Amino acid sequence: MNTFYITTAIDYVNGSPHLGHAYEKVLTDVIARFRRLMGDKVFFLTGVDEHGQKVQQTARARGIPPQQFCDEISQEFRAMCATLDISNDDFIRTTEPRHKKVVRDLLQWLHDKGEIYKAEYRGFYSTRQEQFLQEKDRNPDGTWPELFGEVTEITESNYFFKLRQYQDWLIDHLQKNEDFIFPRYRRKQVLEFLGEPLNDLCISRPKERLEWGIPLPFDEAFVTYVWFDALVNYYTAVVDKPGFWPASFHVIGKDILVPPHAVYWPIMLKAAGIEPPRSILAHGWWSVNGSKMSKSTGNFVEPIAFAGQYGVDALRYFLIREMSVGQDSDFSLQQFLARYNAELANNLGNLVNRTLNMTNRFAAGIIPAAAPGGDGATGGAVDAAAATPEAELRALWEKTRDEVISLHEGFQFHTALERTFAFITATNGYIEKRAPWKLGKSAAPADQALLRTALATMAEALRLANALLAAVMPGTTAKIKAVLGLPAAPAAADAAAAGAWRDELVWGSRLAGNKVAETAILFPRPQSEKTPAKS
Ligand code: MSP
Repeated sequence: MNTFYITTAIDYVNGSPHLGHAYEKVLTDVIARFRRLMGDKVFFLTGVDEHGQKVQQTARARGIPPQQFCDEISQEFRAMCATLDISNDDFIRTTEPRHKKVVRDLLQWLHDKGEIYKAEYRGFYSTRQEQFLQEKDRNPDGTWPELFGEVTEITESNYFFKLRQYQDWLIDHLQKNEDFIFPRYRRKQVLEFLGEPLNDLCISRPKERLEWGIPLPFDEAFVTYVWFDALVNYYTAVVDKPGFWPASFHVIGKDILVPPHAVYWPIMLKAAGIEPPRSILAHGWWSVNGSKMSKSTGNFVEPIAFAGQYGVDALRYFLIREMSVGQDSDFSLQQFLARYNAELANNLGNLVNRTLNMTNRFAAGIIPAAAPGGDGATGGAVDAAAATPEAELRALWEKTRDEVISLHEGFQFHTALERTFAFITATNGYIEKRAPWKLGKSAAPADQALLRTALATMAEALRLANALLAAVMPGTTAKIKAVLGLPAAPAAADAAAAGAWRDELVWGSRLAGNKVAETAILFPRPQSEKTPAKS
């Protein structure tokens, strides 16, 4: 069985979870669920990044110990995952003993191998911000901005990791592995960065400046710099799980691709003699109402509250439908509601309701078998002019299914959803065409046969479209299965389930004889639609 190890970035705990964090988890979850449906043995990791200056400062400002602060905020991130139906197998915190041990072992190993050395670090230091400044931080006139307070040039001893000596190896690795970075166009950005000689990486901070970190095993007067701590989480989580390293995908935002994930991380692993990850997927950024997300301007979406108000799957659907993986997108309530109404409520929701209503009205709630010859099967030869509506719908299904699977494989989820919903639209169109409400009024045997075919066809098309939506809307699709009288999905981890999904995607008659529910409320009308905001 194919193993598939996928991770998200681990989020800083110096603030509460926001839409960007939520998106990354949902995207990774969709990939993980899809791989499970395809039969892979998946391990899905997410978690939080708890050390560093910012956390130390924020905790101090709140007057509580940093560990207590981290305990509180990481709980919010955990809760977000639970609320959003994220199917992670593990949740890692960088303050856990299992992680500290792996980081310290790795540092010791690299130090013993001569990959780490001590040297003087000279630079401009802001005491107020407790950080070294870069030339790019200066005002155009050469002075330092107010926010840094007094800036002095200081010299400090620190430890350095020999990044530069692996530069050529990394360039070569990128050239040989076209799929190392997704989307491919971002590889250029990495190669450009590698066009300049790399500086060795300063990987320590003296304890008197930063206490909140993992002490270096070979010099306890220092703690390790955040990236050297954070990146290692991916390895920590599977250190005792044979078969999962190297990671299949690290899913991250575009801001942390270069240099941390695409340069530091593969080189750290190479230096330690560990295989680099197979791929890094860099997604784009969300803005909200056209500008950068910010709490102070109210331009902030709280994922837990939002999902509570509008529905978890509606949020998941919107995030995946709206953003093309790799590109940026904008989030606005207006656009969310437009999709909610048109696509979820009036298209999918409508198909579910019509199917249940008509099955109850015309067939006592039992899905009939299609009349002989009414299953849309064409024996391979579809004559477009002579094709029945059933045959047309079935042919569209087959095309849609194959496209959607390959779009999923290429992470084109937004297009996959578009195609799936086009099939749902076509199914609603099929119902209009067959007009079961008219057939139901006729006692003629031919009309009755056609009525059975129509009811069977719409239920089957719904079952199939629903199966394609399972990775994006796990809660809703489970509900739809239930109202069609189908058993819940087999446990994802169940090896016997491998391939079961492929079978589910085959047009057939497995619904015949199922008792449907009376009604299903999947997408209640959102509140703010009832009370439009004053503008
Ligand atoms: N702690 C580091 C990552 C360490 S990974 C070994 C970090 N944390 S973060 O909280 O700032 O960001 C976590 C993830 O959220 C990153 O992948 C980042 O790109 C993503 N996002 C943060 N804001 C975002 C948006 N506005 N939109 C989409 N994703 C965004 O960086």
